[in-house]
Amino acid sequence: MRSLLTFISLVSLCFGAPAKRQTPSPKKPSESLGFMLIAKVDASKDMNPSIHNWVFSTIHVGAAQNVAVLTAPSTKSPGRVFYENGTAEQVASGETTIITDGASPPAPFGVTIQGPRQFDQTYPKEHSIYVNAGPGSFASIGGSAAWYPTLRNWQDEGAGTFAACNNMVPYYGDTNRFITVQYVYGGEEVPTDCVPVTLVAQCADLDELPADAWASHQFAVEVRCYQEVSKMEIS
Ligand SMILES: *[C@@H]1O[C@H](CO)[C@@H](O)[C@H](O)[C@H]1NC(C)=O
Repeated sequence: MRSLLTFISLVSLCFGAPAKRQTPSPKKPSESLGFMLIAKVDASKDMNPSIHNWVFSTIHVGAAQNVAVLTAPSTKSPGRVFYENGTAEQVASGETTIITDGASPPAPFGVTIQGPRQFDQTYPKEHSIYVNAGPGSFASIGGSAAWYPTLRNWQDEGAGTFAACNNMVPYYGDTNRFITVQYVYGGEEVPTDCVPVTLVAQCADLDELPADAWASHQFAVEVRCYQEVSKMEIS
């Protein structure tokens, strides 16, 4: 509880807004190897149209390179299925990575969050999130434990937040807009055209891999997740 309170005061310091942590009530968490990430947005900060309960998906921006976006959930774009990868030691030291399988035969694509001094090419105050072939960033990045609020412990002190931004993506020209997922480090302001989002893990099936896959689920870690995040209220 103490760390939660500290976290709340940190958030209000960072954003200068009335502290309101968007913590979904931890009702009936389960465990699963596979999970999707669902965005929860404080109603007072939501976009128009709403992006509350949109799913973490990706758009192609080059060979084995994707940018993280939120999309309205639909059967066509159900969202990407992720798994946390690493040994027990790596779990303990925060050196797991968040992987999703892509391409054919399936290969591991890691989630890479730009560091505090790396910035989006188009938006020099924003840190991009890529989903590229390879291992990606540690689940605990730059000491900020970015993924922990969604994956492990709601009360962990995260130093930053995910944000959803109404952005251009150069690969698609300057007339198309996407809701990209960016990262905001502690002490930074949520950029204009962006709203803070909480990404909540929703349990999903981690499909069996074909025999010729490059990816492996041998080191997939059980994560805490929820069955139907869209039905969860945020308090
Ligand atoms: C998953 O973790 C194992 C154990 O550390 C490692 O050997 C493997 O390379 C990791 N996979 C990826 C895609 O990083």
